[in-house]
Amino acid sequence: MAKVIQIKDIAAYEGQEVTLRGWVYNKTGKGRLQFVLLRDGSGQAQCVAFKKEMDPVQFEAVRALTQESSLSVSGTVRADERAPGIPGGFELGISKLEVLQAAQKYPITPKEHGAEFLMNHRHLWVRSNRQWAILRIRATIIKAMRDWLDDQGFLLVDTPIITPAAGEETTTLFEVDYFGEKAFLAQTGQLYNEANIMAFGKVYCFGPTFRAEKSKTRRHLIEFWMLEPEIAFCSLEELMDIQEGLVSYVVAQTLEKHARELAIIERDRQKLEAISPPFARISYDDAVAKLQELGARLDDPAAKAELAIEWGEDFGSPHETALAELFDKPVFVYHYPTKVKAFYMTPLADRPEVCRSVDLLAPEGYGEIIGGSERIHDEELLTANIDEMGLGREAYQWYLDLRKFGSVPHAGFGIGIERTVAWICGLSHVRETIPYARLLNRKYP
Ligand code: 4AD
Ligand code: MG
Repeated sequence: MAKVIQIKDIAAYEGQEVTLRGWVYNKTGKGRLQFVLLRDGSGQAQCVAFKKEMDPVQFEAVRALTQESSLSVSGTVRADERAPGIPGGFELGISKLEVLQAAQKYPITPKEHGAEFLMNHRHLWVRSNRQWAILRIRATIIKAMRDWLDDQGFLLVDTPIITPAAGEETTTLFEVDYFGEKAFLAQTGQLYNEANIMAFGKVYCFGPTFRAEKSKTRRHLIEFWMLEPEIAFCSLEELMDIQEGLVSYVVAQTLEKHARELAIIERDRQKLEAISPPFARISYDDAVAKLQELGARLDDPAAKAELAIEWGEDFGSPHETALAELFDKPVFVYHYPTKVKAFYMTPLADRPEVCRSVDLLAPEGYGEIIGGSERIHDEELLTANIDEMGLGREAYQWYLDLRKFGSVPHAGFGIGIERTVAWICGLSHVRETIPYARLLNRKYP
């Protein structure tokens, strides 16, 4: 058998005899000439079988190939600019082939399928070009986030998935039976990050996050992945600088490494090329005033009603979309009303109805991709909030300890991987941004 290579490296083997191993993505051709589009996970290459040049039994085997059959194929690499594939431009003249398994009739065909059908076949759908491109971009986005933080002196410190108490609000807790005791799946690693910064200064955790949220929107998953940096001695303004740097780097890395994948999913690169620091920063007060102004200019009563907002209310997706539309980059909205945010966020000293929080809204209607804040570092105030929310002090003793032993001002944020991928890839729903989505109505496959 000739040297086994990955299709992504095919250009380096022009004129040489090689072996490719993979699956049949497509097969065309008639009579004496057969074209097999083979994918191997790294790319796709056209493999050509010419009857005259092959053993008749082997040629028949090529003709009989079905979509997604697995095989090993050997032959000579030729340059041909017409050859389709990823990267394309090179093809394999087949001399020998071995079918590992002849696939049964494959359920996903080039015709259009509905979203539910495709989600039911997600274990097969991940093989298709678009999904391949999206999930490769996802991996780069995660790597870029981690690389950037590592380079800035952050330490990855893992936080637990099974937790004794709520990290955010109690309404979205996923309960698990912990040997007869109640425990919950992590809603966030933040509280543990707050302990870890006192040991390491700047940390982040990255892991699965669970929210038993009965939301069926295109932005909500039940299980999603979140990356959460936390920084000792950090202000809200410094926190925004970090977010800006991180997000811009992630977008730049995607543009640099994924020209091919972005082309497959037909993403408008120009929209992404605009993303660089600084991002606009507007206060919640100003954001509400802007929304009211926009609403007043609308004629359609339904649209007007959707955009209506009073000071003190949280934003819904129409508000986030309308605000983000005013900018061609992500925009920070800071100082939200204390009542709509989490128990750990620092209220303003001279205006306690407002807190030192910041959300980053992505452009093009993708809404909030980051939530963050300064954390309360005063023991008394934090205890009062925990009591007021009825969270129960016992489970938070360790968290309150952090305010007893060298408490410092600190801040952090969480960036949702799937919403970030949806925005960067320009996808209409988060279900395609994660290999196996957990949605309100879906835990299969
Ligand atoms: O705003 P959230 O709830 O913030 C926290 O959990 C903080 N503890 C983070 C921190 O300060 N360390 O969530 C942060 C981000 C959101 O902006 C969003 O991108 C994502 O996590 N997110 C979800 N993504 C998909 N489905 C859901 N149900 C999500 N909920 C939050
Ligand atoms: Mg949030």
